[in-house]
Amino acid sequence: MARIHAFEFEDQTWFPGVVREYMTDFLSHMGGWSKIPYQPFIERLADALRRTGDARVVDLCSGGGGPAVVIAEELRSRLGRPVEVVLTDLYPSSSRQAHARSVLPTWVELEARPIDAQRVPPDLPGFRLVCNGFHHLRPHEARACLLDAVTSRRGLALVELTQRSPFTMLQVALGTVTLLAVSPFIKPFRWSRLLLTYVLPIVPLCTLWDGIVSCLRVYDPDELAALVGELPDCGYRWEYGRLSVPRMPNELTYLIGTPDPR
Ligand SMILES: C[S@@+](CC[C@H](N)C(=O)[O-])C[C@H]1O[C@@H](n2cnc3c(N)ncnc32)[C@H](O)[C@@H]1O
Repeated sequence: MARIHAFEFEDQTWFPGVVREYMTDFLSHMGGWSKIPYQPFIERLADALRRTGDARVVDLCSGGGGPAVVIAEELRSRLGRPVEVVLTDLYPSSSRQAHARSVLPTWVELEARPIDAQRVPPDLPGFRLVCNGFHHLRPHEARACLLDAVTSRRGLALVELTQRSPFTMLQVALGTVTLLAVSPFIKPFRWSRLLLTYVLPIVPLCTLWDGIVSCLRVYDPDELAALVGELPDCGYRWEYGRLSVPRMPNELTYLIGTPDPR
């Protein structure tokens, strides 16, 4: 199936921030539930952090940050040393950050500035991570994201749990039904979340649409390899491919790049 960069609500600057927040809260709630789907990726990411020695992960396209926090927690245990994580997004939400500050561990930082994955400011050092967010970037933007990491000589890893397959799209559609079951339990509790979920079902409908379109947009390993191939020769070690998700009939797609030691 060819990659199609179709319209996603989440990408629109005019899209109401509160709806974007409730959509990404759901993804974060589900993604932060368990580290199991990410285990094979975390194993490789831990090796990459052993090579670079980074003690800080800069999570890009964080949304609610659920997967990044479980991944960082597991990295800390695998590496046996502190690893901090900073959550960043192009559309940061101050209300979400106020809540997150009160519930997240102290080793999780929240970046208040909008951070574009294509241009990470130099005052945000660390190993860059993109969980389920790389598909938001069109090919020229995806290239810019990779180039920005290599010109700053930062490690970079990205992972996507979905694929361009009818099976994954069906899973995404069924997963959206879960939103109806878990919304009252998503923190922080908001009456407006319930209103926009059950009375005016804007959150589930936009989540369903964006979820299906995300599958159509995900880069496959060959496309990731082609993006890497277009970068200048930069002395990087790259690995990419698909990894089986434990206990599920799924595969995740990943790319990890680390600068060669100088
Ligand atoms: C699918 S959502 C959340 C993914 C989240 N990491 C997760 O796994 O639950 C993708 C996020 O990417 C953000 N985003 C989109 N384009 C971006 C860009 N160019 N730079 C940084 N963030 C971006 C959106 O605001 C959204 O919060």
